[in-house]
Order: sequence, then C-alpha cells, then structure tokens
Amino acid sequence: MKPTPLIIDTDPGIDDAVAIALALYAPELDVKLITTVAGNVGIEATTGNALKLLAYYGKDVPVAKGAAAPLIRQPEDASDIHGATGMEGFDFPEPKTELLLEKNAVEAMRDVLMVAEEPITIMPIGPLTNIALLLKVYPEVKPQIKEIVLMGGSVTRGNKGVMAEFNIYVDPEAAKIVLDSGLKITMATLDAGLGTVIPPEQTAKLKDMGKVGLMSHDLFQRYRKRSFGTGLKMYDSCAVACMLQPDLFTMQETYVDVELAGSLTAGCTVADLKGYLKHEPNATVTTGVDSERFCAWFMERMAQCD
Ligand code: BDR
Ligand code: CA
Repeated sequence: MKPTPLIIDTDPGIDDAVAIALALYAPELDVKLITTVAGNVGIEATTGNALKLLAYYGKDVPVAKGAAAPLIRQPEDASDIHGATGMEGFDFPEPKTELLLEKNAVEAMRDVLMVAEEPITIMPIGPLTNIALLLKVYPEVKPQIKEIVLMGGSVTRGNKGVMAEFNIYVDPEAAKIVLDSGLKITMATLDAGLGTVIPPEQTAKLKDMGKVGLMSHDLFQRYRKRSFGTGLKMYDSCAVACMLQPDLFTMQETYVDVELAGSLTAGCTVADLKGYLKHEPNATVTTGVDSERFCAWFMERMAQCD
C-alpha cells in the first residue's frame, strides 16, 4: 500500500526525537516535511535538534523553522525536563543545515499541502502555534489536510499545572483555533501517554537495538533519571501509534474546548465526554491505552529503526 504522506510539527525534545524516528522509519508513512516550533526549548534549539536528528538518522527530509513564541502568551519552556538545548549529552553529528528551508514553517506547510496529489496528515507533537497560524493565514489548505493527529491535552488532569497538559498550556489560543477548525482531529492525550510505561528491563534492551535505540536509551537515562528506573512514558510516540496502531487505545469522539481564561485552569482541555454541552464532536480523544500492548508495539518499532 502507498505510504501515508505526513507533516510532523515538533519541538524536539527527547520524546519528540523518538516519535520522529518511529515515523521516519515506519514503512507505512512518508514524511514530507518537518516543521519546528518553540516549546520544550526555544526555536533555534528545536530547529537545530531536528537537523541533528536527521543527520543522525541519515534521513533527508526538509525542515522549516516556525513560530518563536506562542500567539499571545509569553513563551514557557520545559528545559528543566529536557535540558537547556533539549537534547544535550549525546554525541550527535553536525546538524544537516542543508535541509533547512529558507521559508518559514507556515509557508512550507502551505506549499507542500497545495501541490499534494492527495490530502496530507499533520502530526503536531508540540504547541499548536504553527498549525493555528497556517489555518488562519492560508485557510485554503484545509481541504488538503486529511486529518490532524496531535499529542496534547488531557481528559483528566495535567502535567503543567493541575489541569493543563504542556503542549496546550504553552499556547491555548492556538489549540482553540485548531480544535475549532472543523478538521478531523485525533488527540493523543496525556491520559494515554501516562499509560505508555516502558519498564526498565525493556529500556535496557534499547541500547543494543542500533543507533536510534542507543540514542533514546542515553538521552532518557540522562534526563529521565527517575522514570528510567520506574518506567518511561512515551508521550509523543502516542501520536505515531494513533496513526499506525489505533487499536492500542480506547478512544471517544467528543467535543473538546480549551480553557483560555481560567485563573487556575488556563490551557486545560475540557473534553465533554458525557455530552453536557450539547455540542457536535470536534475531536476523537484517547481515554486510555493498553500498556502492555503499547510497550510491545514500541519495542518492536524501535527494533526496526535502523
Ligand atoms: C508533551 O510535552 C512535551 O514536554 C513533550 O515533548 C510532549 O510533547 C507532553 O506533555
Ligand atoms: Ca513534544
């Protein structure tokens, strides 16, 4: 079967690095473009990291630099979790700067979408700033977008504050624009991500699985010391799994809104699972994951990444 054309929008970021590898090495997917956004770390670092990853993976995919800051809010990063540059401490080759396009992420996405022979899937695994800008600046791309499969949001609690998941917390206005777009949206939520536990005995196997396994092992060992010993969570890889193996998840089609004004809950995704708001559904959300099967899927895919 013809591979599914895909645009990845990302803020690498350790778990982004793993998700990008899973997508690049998946025979079912054809990654046409990688766009970067400020999120885990600043835009120069996320863009440099994307170029380093491509050099390390030996893959030639064009990269376009995107938004340096959220639409309205001040940038907030996660360098406390991902390190100052998002991926320090591993011996990457020099970034493949020749893959960096001169045009920005919004222009690059538009160009790829408008010439595509078939609608393309977009997989955002960082804040949704670039995607919101794309939809506002070039609404004519919409029929060319098959679906958006994103990692972000939660149907229960948050990881950046009590109620908000990081990617949505950073740019909630962008998330609202995307959710209100009328496009087909699948949200790989934090709730599923928390169930994607890769236990230490499996993580130990990664380092002998070739270069992608080794990189993941070493970066997670450095930056996720605690969960390295208890079980790693693969948040962004959930978006890849939602595309390739959706039966790993329980999912529900529902209406999702984003809290923009809450003094305690800004950036919270309000998933109306019980239908109180009487709105048409605008997204399919993951409500859980089969942890054991996810782990088996993940390890199998990682073994194929070389
Ligand atoms: C998300 O936040 C980021 O730190 C990760 O890369 C992932 O995209 C999880 O909440
Ligand atoms: Ca990410």
